[in-house]
Amino acid sequence: MRRLSGRIVVATHNAGKLKEMRALLAPYGVEAVSAGELGLPEPEETGTTFAANAAIKAHAAAGASGLPAFADDSGICVAALGGDPGIYSARWGGPDKDFDFAMRRIEELLQAQGATAPETRRAWFVSALCVAWPDGHAVEVEGRVDGTLVHPPRGPSGFGYDPMFRPDGHERTFGEMTPEEKHGLPPLGLGLSHRARAFAALAEKVLG
Ligand code: IMP
Repeated sequence: MRRLSGRIVVATHNAGKLKEMRALLAPYGVEAVSAGELGLPEPEETGTTFAANAAIKAHAAAGASGLPAFADDSGICVAALGGDPGIYSARWGGPDKDFDFAMRRIEELLQAQGATAPETRRAWFVSALCVAWPDGHAVEVEGRVDGTLVHPPRGPSGFGYDPMFRPDGHERTFGEMTPEEKHGLPPLGLGLSHRARAFAALAEKVLG
């Protein structure tokens, strides 16, 4: 199995995700530069799964930069909405990436179904990660965290749908947690968020 070291490209133009990725990669001594910083073009995400879209982004960035590239595709799936917004989670924020708006939209759709009881408001975050090398070799993993959608959204932390999502086994939403709690990083070290769980699987395969 090939190991990752030195300089890699993080294939994202999303500042929130870049910050999280850097924090997750830092302990492994991997220096992360972003696709945005290198001025790489953003490929079209034409895949129908999280894994396919992560692979498209990682292969495009590795090909364009000549460096190993690391990409994530993630989103939130709501059981009562047939898994929506899923791979379209970013798009539900609209051109202004307004996730208060996206959370209101989810809430309206749930209310229209009378979904007020917690068991009717199940959701899960998914993070698919792909590391691709310029020669086309790639490693893919996926992480998931299940929980319940709360209303109204709570907490100023994180990004995207965090304020609406209360992970199983916790009273607070991701929006009310510190990054250490959300990801379950040391010293808590429980691997909570979808991204941290995917990352742990990836670390086993290509890091350390
Ligand atoms: P993409 O992976 O760039 O297509 O975007 C995924 C979208 O899903 C983000 O813009 C967020 O709205 C949402 N999302 C992904 N991960 C998280 C998370 O950890 N917290 C909150 N929202 C997330």
